[in-house]
Amino acid sequence: GANVVIGTPGRVMDLIRRKSLHLEALKIAVLDEADEMLNMGFKEGFLWGGATAANQVEGGIFEDGRGLANVDLMPHGSDRYAIGTGEKWIDRIDDHYFPSHQAVDFYHHYKEDIALMGEMGFKTFRLSIAWTRIFPLGDELEPNEKGLLFYENIFKECKKYGIEPLVTINHFDCPMHLIHKFGGWRNREMIDCFVKLAKVLFERYNGLVKYWLTFNEINMILHFPFVAAGLRFKEGENKTQAMITCAHHELVASALVTKLAHEINPENMVGCMLAAGSYYPETCNPEDYWKSICDDRESYMFIDVQSRGYYPNYALKWIEKRNAEIPFAENDVNILKENTVDFISFSYYSSRVSSANPDKGKQTESNIFASVVNPYLDTSDWGWQIDPLGLRITMNEIYDRYQKPLFIVENGLGAKDKIEEDGSIQDDYRIDYLKKHIQAMKDAVDEDGVDLMGYTTWGCIDLISNGTGEMEKRYGFIYIDRDNDGHGTFKRIKKKSFDWYKKVIATNGEDLDN
Ligand code: BG6
Repeated sequence: GANVVIGTPGRVMDLIRRKSLHLEALKIAVLDEADEMLNMGFKEGFLWGGATAANQVEGGIFEDGRGLANVDLMPHGSDRYAIGTGEKWIDRIDDHYFPSHQAVDFYHHYKEDIALMGEMGFKTFRLSIAWTRIFPLGDELEPNEKGLLFYENIFKECKKYGIEPLVTINHFDCPMHLIHKFGGWRNREMIDCFVKLAKVLFERYNGLVKYWLTFNEINMILHFPFVAAGLRFKEGENKTQAMITCAHHELVASALVTKLAHEINPENMVGCMLAAGSYYPETCNPEDYWKSICDDRESYMFIDVQSRGYYPNYALKWIEKRNAEIPFAENDVNILKENTVDFISFSYYSSRVSSANPDKGKQTESNIFASVVNPYLDTSDWGWQIDPLGLRITMNEIYDRYQKPLFIVENGLGAKDKIEEDGSIQDDYRIDYLKKHIQAMKDAVDEDGVDLMGYTTWGCIDLISNGTGEMEKRYGFIYIDRDNDGHGTFKRIKKKSFDWYKKVIATNGEDLDN
């Protein structure tokens, strides 16, 4: 009988609201301040862990029938950015170096890697499915059994260590065959191909996987469209139109897949995924403040649809002003309305800054889309600005906006690591970054009442950078012997942060000391 609620005033109200309980039907026992203290901290079952993406870790791109994908044609070097933005392309493997082809060979090392995650005490492991392992071309009728088996083995391996998989169905990959045939997500046919993929996954992994994300960083369509939507621009076309078309198709696909997940197993929980990081106005000039609102809206635009079920008015105006239209088909409005997500997941690396002055000088390096430099912040080796309080600000902003549970599924520091003479890796800078961000996230939970499901650091094992294709930009607790040019043994080495994170998890985030 769920009609008795015990807790402090704040907790009781929170529970009533979250579970939509009716006050009249409840017996309520309110505890005192001392108990309130006991209730602080991350909730029981908080999902601590780490995150990866197929194309950045697996390698083995020609094994067991896997087909060719967009991410296989993203080289290391100066052409990478232009290819990612859909301005330039390579159609077949040539003499460029493509780091994802072997990546960190997770394809053959997954047992070792998951054992190390188990040793750290991971409660969850975020990974993505390589679409072309399951449907090598994308439009076949039957899936590739060997691809399905690969992920089934991974999930079973996770279960051995009590690790709950968190699966991104689409982390920046699209079969090349569908790009050639349909022009990627600009064609509505993609929706059926994607729904077919998801159906196969939900049925095959029913009982093994409960947490799903549909599209990684869906707002990246506006910034890295070949990677996020298999989009290549045609000469002279209205680029906004092309990107909005892709986005709408992904949004409808995401809603249909959410529906299917719930039908196949009501225990399934489906989230959207945002490349987050609030914009601050450069000054208190109202023009700067207004610009920061507009910039934030460009990030929230698609998440608003996935969480609330409809395009907000500002998005309709934004699209109209750019002479574009949303390619609504007959039932799309209802599909979007009836199938919103269960939780909001996001990546956070840094806050951003907006200026109304178009000539505003220096831009930061950043996660694909740059912003004005914030003089109050330090930067990483790659020029990304470091702002732990910005995580608390971002969490509050997102929670205020949607009032759904949040899941931080990417956060971390890309840095150069050095192996000492004794073989150790003293990555105190990474511990410092993570410690401050976890403290900020704790503040958001304890002080502000944000409902947070879990936290997965990006690149828990070192992996290939999405932005630059480098290997030397390392995020992991586990070092992997591999360099920017594809040399190395793939040997795994625990860094100092390995034991630190193990302790953080064991104490449910209470002990952050180095
Ligand atoms: C996110 C992506 O945008 O940022 C990841 O979801 C990516 O795929 C991560 O790796 C960090 O970016 P980078 O460029 O350092 O790899």
